[in-house]
Amino acid sequence: MAIKFSDKALDHVIDEMIDVVENSKDEIFNISEGARSEYERLVIELKETKEKVIQHIENGDQLEKKVKLSRQRLAEVSKYFKKYSESDIREIYEKTHAMQTKLAMLRHEEKVLRDKRDDLERRLISLAGTIDRAEGLASKISVILNYLQDDFKRVNEMIEDAKEKQEFGLKIIEAQEEERRKISREIHDGPAQMLANILLRSEIVEKISRNGDLDKVINELKSVKTMIRTSLYEVRRIIYDLRPMALDDLGLVPTIRKYIATTADYHKMEIKFIIIGKEKRLPQKYEIAFFRLMQESLQNAIKHARPTLIQVKLEIQSNYLTMLIKDNGQGFDPETKKDNSFGLMGMRERVEMIEGKLMIDSKIGKGTTVSIHVPYSC
Ligand SMILES: Nc1ncnc2c1ncn2[C@@H]1O[C@H](COP(=O)(O)OP(=O)(O)OP(=O)(O)O)[C@@H](O)[C@H]1O
Ligand SMILES: [Mg+2]
Repeated sequence: MAIKFSDKALDHVIDEMIDVVENSKDEIFNISEGARSEYERLVIELKETKEKVIQHIENGDQLEKKVKLSRQRLAEVSKYFKKYSESDIREIYEKTHAMQTKLAMLRHEEKVLRDKRDDLERRLISLAGTIDRAEGLASKISVILNYLQDDFKRVNEMIEDAKEKQEFGLKIIEAQEEERRKISREIHDGPAQMLANILLRSEIVEKISRNGDLDKVINELKSVKTMIRTSLYEVRRIIYDLRPMALDDLGLVPTIRKYIATTADYHKMEIKFIIIGKEKRLPQKYEIAFFRLMQESLQNAIKHARPTLIQVKLEIQSNYLTMLIKDNGQGFDPETKKDNSFGLMGMRERVEMIEGKLMIDSKIGKGTTVSIHVPYSC
């Protein structure tokens, strides 16, 4: 039977396992406590039995002496039976016999007590073993319980994490597809259509020039030139959106500067850019990462925060790079995860890849500051 695995399924299984193990631990504790009190009871019983054995031996020895004396007396009386009356002889005989019977009983009781003592000693040894094993088991169970409550719970987090990463991977594929669709539509609606128009107009120019109407030719050529210029602008814009060539050609700082200027102009809002430290080229992985981090933070601020001011501060030092993207917008709770939101997660992944740290400081109504700190050596 196929098991449907929901988010909470593993939590539920672990909780059940913890319950079972906790119950087993209680049971083992009860067994161990029972064995311990039985042990204590047997120790007392053994002590009493040993005392009784000693008492019986002493009583037996004393009685044996008395029996011996009585038998000597009986022998004497029998030897000189003329001196004693028949009732005297019978009395001594009966007394000796009674003492002998009592001695036999005492010796029998002593044997029973010795057997009981040996049995008690054997049971005590076996109980001590049970107590030891129960304690060993209880400590092993404690280890299992810790493992279940602590380490195993982390497995769940790891699974959640892996699931998020998988979703992130899927989101990247979807985003790629969406991006391709967008580019093809932009080229189709923009430059491709304009080129078709230019072709059409060129044919018109050809026809007019055959008729020798120079003014019309010049006018048509002017409009073709405008169309070519617009197409060029469109093509450049599409390329810039894909990946600003300036990033490879001029480096991080001029590209951010240009991006911020264009974005501020497009959204009609104020975006400040401050650069601290030496403005210089950085290894490509840092330039790409910082540009994309700035781009996503800026887009988030514009898309979600409704700010009146955004500030981007980039600091380039010889041993670290930092960037702050601060908006005065509505803020949010960074702990709350949103379905189908992958921008922040992508940012974290990028920062992790360059071994840096990302912090989001945001309060509802108080704006948001994204800070990125990356160790770096030039
Ligand atoms: N600067 C900000 N101000 C206010 N809310 C923000 C800000 N940045 C992020 N958020 C909130 O955090 C959520 C997650 O952001 P994230 O960038 O991960 O996803 P998204 O922008 O919604 O989608 P996308 O996957 O396209 O980036 C946003 O939906 C928004 O609610
Ligand atoms: Mg986003």
